[in-house]
Amino acid sequence: MKIILLGAPGAGKGTVAKLLTDYDGSVQISTGDILRAAVKEGTDLGREAKGYMDRGDLVPDGLIMQMMEVRLQQPDCEKGFILDGFPRTIPQAEALKSLLEKLHIRLDFVVNLEVPRDVILDRLTTRRTCSNPDCQEIYNIKSNPPLPDGTCKKCGSMTIQRDDETEEAILNRLETYNLKTAPLIGFYEKEGLIKTFASVNSADTVEAVKKAL
Ligand code: AP5
Repeated sequence: MKIILLGAPGAGKGTVAKLLTDYDGSVQISTGDILRAAVKEGTDLGREAKGYMDRGDLVPDGLIMQMMEVRLQQPDCEKGFILDGFPRTIPQAEALKSLLEKLHIRLDFVVNLEVPRDVILDRLTTRRTCSNPDCQEIYNIKSNPPLPDGTCKKCGSMTIQRDDETEEAILNRLETYNLKTAPLIGFYEKEGLIKTFASVNSADTVEAVKKAL
């Protein structure tokens, strides 16, 4: 499959993407995960991105497009890809459109995950993420907790709260989503690509996406 996952912070993009990769071997490409790994490794990209991310602001479009032009041409994308958290702005969506045309890639559709704001706020304050950059399994202390000592069930590393999970950064991320990312729903509506899913239960959402493919 070749799809984009669109949705507010905490809508469950990462959770749904991970479940979908089991379906047909398509690769999950999360710009957030790539950026967090770059911050942890202390690369030039990571140093530039960290301040924006910790505040809950978007990283500049130019940096994201440089990163994604390389990533989308890697061999594992040939089987299919799930774009998680990209594009995030109209300029990114326009640049992606040109890039996909250049690479002769056709998207299946854009999955718009709709979740009520109170559910989102609750999910973001109760999320835990595996600290191992090669794992990054997502947990939730209410709905899907890690092991009782706080370690990851998959790889045994400690789970943590992300640096952008302060109340201030969460509110800024939601505001940024409304201003800069929500307009992509209209953009992809015009392209005839949008499909909206009420995403309260991730497993149900995954089944609905599979049916729509
Ligand atoms: P990114 O990592 O993409 O963060 P985000 O969009 O804010 O999304 P989240 O990862 O917070 O949430 P999610 O929708 O994946 O939800 P999850 O599955 O974890 O980006 C981080 C930062 O990087 C940005 O702020 C920006 O600075 C930068 N960045 C990234 N991409 C960029 C781009 N393209 N351009 C510019 N800057 C960019 O679920 C959340 C929680 O809910 C978890 O605890 C989960 O277990 C739980 N949960 C999920 N589904 C359910 C369910 N059905 N029932 C119960 N609990 C559930």
